[in-house]
Amino acid sequence: MIPRAPKGTDDILPPASRRWRELLRVFDEMTEQWGYGLTLTPIFETTELFARGVGEETEVVEKQMYSFVDKGDRSLTLRPEATASVVRAYLQAGGQGVFKAAYAGPMFRYEQPQAGRRRQFFQVGIEYLAEPSPDADVEVIDFGYRLLERVGVTGVTVLLNSIGDPADRAAYRDRLTGFLQERIGRLSDDARRRVATNPLRVLDSKVDADVVADAPAPLDHLGEAAAAHFAAVRSGLERRGIASEIAPRLVRGLDYYNRTVFEYVAASYDAAQDSLGGGGRYDPLAEIIGGKAVPGVGLAMGVDRITAAMPEVGGEDLDVFVAVAVEARRTEALDLVASLRAAGVRADLDLGGRSLRAQFKAADRRRARAVAVVGEEVTEGRVTVRRLAGGDDEQIPIEEVAAWVTSP
Ligand code: HAM
Repeated sequence: MIPRAPKGTDDILPPASRRWRELLRVFDEMTEQWGYGLTLTPIFETTELFARGVGEETEVVEKQMYSFVDKGDRSLTLRPEATASVVRAYLQAGGQGVFKAAYAGPMFRYEQPQAGRRRQFFQVGIEYLAEPSPDADVEVIDFGYRLLERVGVTGVTVLLNSIGDPADRAAYRDRLTGFLQERIGRLSDDARRRVATNPLRVLDSKVDADVVADAPAPLDHLGEAAAAHFAAVRSGLERRGIASEIAPRLVRGLDYYNRTVFEYVAASYDAAQDSLGGGGRYDPLAEIIGGKAVPGVGLAMGVDRITAAMPEVGGEDLDVFVAVAVEARRTEALDLVASLRAAGVRADLDLGGRSLRAQFKAADRRRARAVAVVGEEVTEGRVTVRRLAGGDDEQIPIEEVAAWVTSP
């Protein structure tokens, strides 16, 4: 028996991976258009980075980290997310000026696997560093919204909240702790534990939703600066025509946030009301991991979930499949494929000497638009072409194949 992929991991193969390719293509194109530079950081980091950055009291650090000791006795962790890594990389490189980062890659969390909740999952994300303006928050939220729109996910709403600044939060935390203490007997075990360590997290605990339904909300306890920031974000989103909804109990699962937090939900993806992406402002993060103060805002989108909510990607995978009618003319067929590829045409052929019938079948299976048959007439510089959607055979000069297959 062959070993199977580990629990909670997936092989993403064609044709399902067509959606992945489309999403990654759109992400790549958009990040270039919006001015985000490709940023690659290690897939493992020191455990300390996430313990500090993401927060000791979070579920991610407490329960979900893939940590190991390497042969040099260092404690390392497979990244559960990339924001802490990007901020670390920026600081390590000297941390000068505005920095707009784009990343794509696998993340790792020891979850109870189910659909849309994997142990290895894939994120695309952007981080906008050293920019305190609420317009940066609006840009980041707008980016995620447009990305979903461009890949065809419909009915998207941005859930939006502000959790204020750490200084404002102290007073709020006391009020919330008081509220929760009075109801301690009705809280779940997890929530009870969090009352002392991280009471904000109780707000978005699904099992405790009844108890916290009328808890004091962070939004009603914002300081003046945070309130003005939130108002600016809201009016910016409105100007961009983004459908958003205030979610007073949205606090997010990572500890580095202040002010703006948000998540994307979609009508076409409601598996356990999970979000397709999320993010927020994290002005405290750079200092938490030991650097100077650097404001930042960013998001990460869940590729596994978005591809599940995307419509089928239509169209052909190949412009032309080159079929070899007579084995003696294989060399000419190989040359034709090489020249088509060099001209930017998506072209392929069968290398196994199969029957013409089998090659036409392969062309169909590979979603080719047309077939070019290389037979004896190639010695006179001609090949036979046929569109697979229907159409007659035509003989055309070999140097016209590229133009013929890409014409409508
Ligand atoms: P997050 O909310 O933990 O935020 O993850 C972002 C997105 O990744 C989620 O909305 C979801 O789509 C996807 N995701 C998370 N965990 C899983 C999983 N186990 N299986 C499948 N998909 C998953 C962050 O990671 C922050 N770093 C976002 C951010 C960037 N904040 C500021 N900048």
